[in-house]
Amino acid sequence: MTRVLSGIQPTSDSFHLGNYLGAVRQWVALQDEFDEAFYFIPDMHAITMPHEPKLLRERTRRSVAQLLAVGIDPERSTIYVQSHVPEIAQLTWVLSCITGFGEASRMTQFKDKSAKQGTDAAGVGLFTYPILMAADILAFQVDAVPVGEDQRQHLELTRNLAQRFNSRFGKTLRVPEAYIPADVAKIYDLQNPTAKMSKSADSDSGLISLLDDPKRSAKKIRSAVTDNDRVIAFDRENKPGVSNLLTIQSALNGTSIDDLVAGYEGKGYGDLKVDTANVLAEFVAPLKGKFDEVLADPDYIDRILADGAQRAREVSAKTLAGVYEKVGFLAPK
Ligand code: TYM
Repeated sequence: MTRVLSGIQPTSDSFHLGNYLGAVRQWVALQDEFDEAFYFIPDMHAITMPHEPKLLRERTRRSVAQLLAVGIDPERSTIYVQSHVPEIAQLTWVLSCITGFGEASRMTQFKDKSAKQGTDAAGVGLFTYPILMAADILAFQVDAVPVGEDQRQHLELTRNLAQRFNSRFGKTLRVPEAYIPADVAKIYDLQNPTAKMSKSADSDSGLISLLDDPKRSAKKIRSAVTDNDRVIAFDRENKPGVSNLLTIQSALNGTSIDDLVAGYEGKGYGDLKVDTANVLAEFVAPLKGKFDEVLADPDYIDRILADGAQRAREVSAKTLAGVYEKVGFLAPK
């Protein structure tokens, strides 16, 4: 039984283009390639940073609605909310007992996020975040985890923990592979094209939200930072802004970057921007309608999540029972 699994945090009203191109688009395609797909909303990860409870609940529903709108199919995929599956938190504890303190301290995301808050304000949950993520994955005995480049280090930790557990206690956990696309694993901020597009950037002027009005997104694309030499070419190092726009356009319309570049010979950055904005507008046009339709039917979302939690608990309870047995916990009678 081959399995794929991934998650997206409910920390904003809309997925952004980096989330979609770097991860969620692959999730849709991989539904057909694996026997089983598990896609979930990590709400427990979302409380590792200061948050608004009411917004979190709303965004959890909105995230599910967006997954359905982009083509995650509840008939083929198990869709669930992390906190509905208590086995994940239970497995986290066991994994945290085989994680080195130094090993956890080397996680760059913790360093970045805690630096923003100050070490005293940053919670221990932010520190153990990657161990919860390892449990998300290992509880489901999965083969592949489609994510963007920024999750690579967490996937490495996950693999190390699985291997460590297996070598200490005997083969129990499947060691997953990160599935990181070569071309779109990092979509960059339009205003700061050497930093990844991120909802936690200081300003949202370089961020494209899928549910935004396409006119607003077009405006952001028109004001994307480029460079001064007026040549449309793909060169990440010297032309990060232009390369980012080429990557986005190519990913959305399926034309190779080489063909795009050839087509822009003699044309200017204005053309590249207008075309990219048009391609984006075409892509997002049907999404909003589907999203609104799903969101307007909370019972439908609840049913999907109830079924999803049930299936997710079946699978993860089996893993947890094996883990508990291996570490020597006395089974309750
Ligand atoms: P999150 O919610 O920050 O992002 C969701 C997915 O989007 C990818 N991504 C990007 N890809 C390309 N370019 C970008 N600019 C960009 N920004 C974000 C992320 O790599 C991710 O794949 N820790 C995870 C959520 C998580 C998870 C898991 C994922 C929790 N448990 C288990 C996989 C398996 C996160 O914060 O992703």
